[in-house]
This record gives sequence, C-alpha cells and structure tokens, in this order.
Amino acid sequence: MQKVPFIVFGIFILLGLSDSVFLTWEHYTLTSIGCPISPWINCLAVTSSKYSEIFGIPLALLGSIYYVFLFFFLTKSKEKMFKHFFLITSSFGVLFSIYLIYVQAFAIGLFCLYCLISSVISFLIFGLTFYFFGSEWKTLVVDSFGYSYGYIIKPILFLIDAEVVHTNMVKFAEMLPKSLLKLFKFIFVNNYTNLKQNILGINFKTPIGLAAGFDYEARLTQTLPSIGFGFQTVGTITNMAYGGNPGPMLGRLPKSKSLLVNKGFKNLGIVETLSRLVDKRFVYPVGISIGRTNSVTLNTIGKSINDIATAFKIVKKSKLNNSFFELNISCPNIIHDLGINFYELTNLEKLLIAIDKVNPNKPVFIKMPIDQTDNHTISMLKLITRHKVKGVIFGNLQTNKKHRTLIQNEVNKYKMGKYSGKPTFEDSNRLIKLAYKNFKDRFIIIGCGGVFNAEDAWVKFTNGASLVQLITGMIFEGPQLIAQINRDLSYKLSKEGYKNIAEIVGINVN
Ligand SMILES: Cc1cc2nc3c(=O)[nH]c(=O)nc-3n(C[C@H](O)[C@H](O)[C@H](O)COP(=O)(O)O)c2cc1C
Repeated sequence: MQKVPFIVFGIFILLGLSDSVFLTWEHYTLTSIGCPISPWINCLAVTSSKYSEIFGIPLALLGSIYYVFLFFFLTKSKEKMFKHFFLITSSFGVLFSIYLIYVQAFAIGLFCLYCLISSVISFLIFGLTFYFFGSEWKTLVVDSFGYSYGYIIKPILFLIDAEVVHTNMVKFAEMLPKSLLKLFKFIFVNNYTNLKQNILGINFKTPIGLAAGFDYEARLTQTLPSIGFGFQTVGTITNMAYGGNPGPMLGRLPKSKSLLVNKGFKNLGIVETLSRLVDKRFVYPVGISIGRTNSVTLNTIGKSINDIATAFKIVKKSKLNNSFFELNISCPNIIHDLGINFYELTNLEKLLIAIDKVNPNKPVFIKMPIDQTDNHTISMLKLITRHKVKGVIFGNLQTNKKHRTLIQNEVNKYKMGKYSGKPTFEDSNRLIKLAYKNFKDRFIIIGCGGVFNAEDAWVKFTNGASLVQLITGMIFEGPQLIAQINRDLSYKLSKEGYKNIAEIVGINVN
C-alpha cells in the first residue's frame, strides 16, 4: 500500500480507537461529556442501556480491542492472511454498525453521537479495506471454500462409499441450476492472460484439465468450466457399454493420498454417450477418451483393434464438437483383456495403423502407462512418431502395489484395482521429462498424475508438459482446487518473470 493512504487508513483506525475508548470510559463511569441532549440524542442512555454489553462485556471495550488489532495488523497488511483479516472484520464491523443503528433507532429510541461516529468510521474502514484489498476477496472466498471442504464436507463424504459418492456427486453437479453456475464462474473463474495457450489450433484458457475417468457418462461438460477447468476429457468410452468390474470399483487411501480404481471402463458405450453430447455447445475444449471394450468377446488382437477403431469412426461420423481424442492403451483394470495389450510393439503398430486409417478429424493423444521401463517407453514413443498421433499423456494409474508412496495397510484393504494420486506423481514426472527430452519437437505432452496444487503442476510444466490433467487432487482438496491452481500458477509466473505458461515448458530439462 502506498504511504499516504496507509497513513490515512491508520488515522481512521486511531480515530475509531479513541472513540471506542471514550465510549468505554462513558460506560464504566456513567458520565457523558460533550454529548448534546435532545429528544433524539442521549449518549448516556445508549451507553448504559442493556444493549451496550454482550455477556457482561461492554461493546465499546470490544471495539477498542478490535481497533488495536486493526492498527497492529495494518503494519502487516502486505501479507495475504492479514488482508483477509481486514476483509472479514471490516465486513463484520459494517454489519454490526447497521445493527447498532437499528437498536438505537427502534429499540432505545435515542441516538448516541459518539456511537454514530463509530459507525461512520466502520463504514470508512470498510470502504478503504475494499478499495485497497478488494482484489483479495475472491482468494478469501475460494480459500474459505477449501477450508470448509477439508474440515467439514470431505470428512462427511469420506464416511460414505466412494463409488456412491462419485456417482451421486456427478449427477448432483449435472443438475446445478445455471444461476448457481454463473455465481461459481464469478467466484472461481478469472481471465489469466498468462495461462492462455493455443495448442494444435485449440484455445485453452487455462492449462488445467479434468483427466479421463471422472466424467465417463458425459454429464459435466456444462458444469466444470464454472469452477475454472480449462478443458476436460469425457470417458474413457468404449464401443460397447460395460457395467464395471465386480466391486469395489473405487476406494480411498487417504494416508497415501490416492484412490483405488477398479472400474475397468465402466461406461454407457459410445452411441449412448454421444447422444448426450452431440447437441451440446462446449465453452472449452472437450476430449473424448476411447479404449478397448472390456468384454470376453474381444478374444483376438484383430477384434480388439476393430472395436477401438469402430468407436473412433462413430465419433468422427457424428456431429460432435470435440476438440481432441485420447486413445487409452494403458488401462490396468481391464479384467477381460485376454492377454491382449498394446505395450507390445507389434500390437501397438497394428492399432495405430488402424487409427490412421480412420483418420480422426481431431488431434489424437495417447494415454500412456507409467509402469514401463524408460527403454520400452522410448521404443513405444519412437513407434508412435510414425503415426498421426499429435501428443502423449503421462500417464495412467500406478500399478506397483509396493510403491514406496503407498501405505501398505491401506493397500491391503483391497484385492483388485490400481492407484491414482500421489503414487503416480514421480513416475509421471520422470516420463514427461523423458518424452520431452527425446521427442519435444514431435509431441505435445500432457502431464497427469498426483497434482494436488500449483507447485505440483509447475513441476510437470517445467519437465515438459504443455497441459496438466487431474482427478485425485480435486477429490482430496475440493473443487475449488482448480481455481487455486490457476491463481497460484498465474501469480508464480509473473513473480518469476515469465510472460506466459508456454515459457516454462521444459525449462527443467537439459
Ligand atoms: C476414478 C478414476 C477413474 C479413472 N478412469 C480412467 C479412465 O477411464 N481412463 C483413463 O485414461 N484414465 C482413468 N483414470 C486415470 C486418470 O485419468 C489419471 O491418469 C490418474 O488418476 C492420475 O491422475 P490423478 O492423480 O490426478 O488422479 C481414472 C482415475 C480415477 C481416479
């Protein structure tokens, strides 16, 4: 804050303090100085009324203490926490002043001149607070939401079965009225010019997207832009519908900051899913993730490839306004895979030839595994370079039960499934770096796995990712996380002297 307004602010606080100290003195001594008495004004009548105390403590004394804090915190008002203190207390001060004016006018029927002066000072402090720290109010609201989620909402949700919560929260979010979404947008969405990118002709307002697996029934494309996502993936969708693996399909490993995932491509099938999407207008880029149907009927590589290619063809033929595709070759939970896997180079080659033939009308990204060796990953990437694929996503779930980030007694609760969240973070980062180092001119890289805050996303960008996706961070930290990541990323970019997010992509790779 500049010096002059700082002094003005300080003077108002000192005036408020003097006024409150004076009123406290009046309250205890039952004397009144300099207060004219008229049919409307009688200071003593007000300061000695039953409304002048709360739990036996004079309001004027509480006011004095408040001003002392305010004066002290003014010296620290560069810090976010103290700006928030000013925003909260000055709003409360104004509301309380309105209440006191009401009490004087309607309950006591008399006004106290010094109490009115105190109210005017409250209004002035409120005005100055919003003038100087107003831009911080969104931060305050967003962070308060985060605290409420962490301390109240999450503990309740985490008492309920994870799959039940997922299914119902998605349906609930789909039904939110437009007016509420507008309010969310007002609070959670900001125009950060340094986060904007045009990648492969697609405009991304922010680089943070929802990863495949959360919105597999295509319910949230109209909801999620309002909490700050810059893009999302629908799916994974398969050619034929699948009801999901025998349960539990989802579990929580809170200490490992991970979710156990065992859905195995539970989805409605490509035709039904498309019927939900084709009439929709998207305000941000929407990707469609496609994988192999989890079915015993797909017992050969040829049938499996045909199944995937058919789903691509159906989307291409539809009038769907999607911006990109994800080809998911890395789901570790397909229980009917019958030994067919696309990590084997000959199978991958055949699959990509088939997809090239379909010639998808939008850029294709491949969702990569994170459990292959660096050498094999390089071999897969080399092969992929020969096809029409534009980018790669690192990556999918953690398959190593013994990963050092997994707390074993949490792992032992579940027989089936693989792990999201923190256990994916390091492997994803390593592979992003590997891909960027070797193929930066060929692939756009999307980083995915274990992003819980802006610092985590920063690591992925600096390792070579141009975009970042997440799911688990949002479940653990709350839906306001996206707004917090956007805000903190934008701030960090400016603070460190970068003009935009593209400038930091790969700076950590030699
Ligand atoms: C509930 C759930 C379902 C998932 N389903 C899919 C899926 O259908 N397709 C896919 O490519 N990845 C799927 N994933 C993996 C995520 O897209 C992501 O790669 C992984 O969870 C790491 O990101 P995170 O740590 O931010 O969750 C799923 C993850 C979760 C948590």
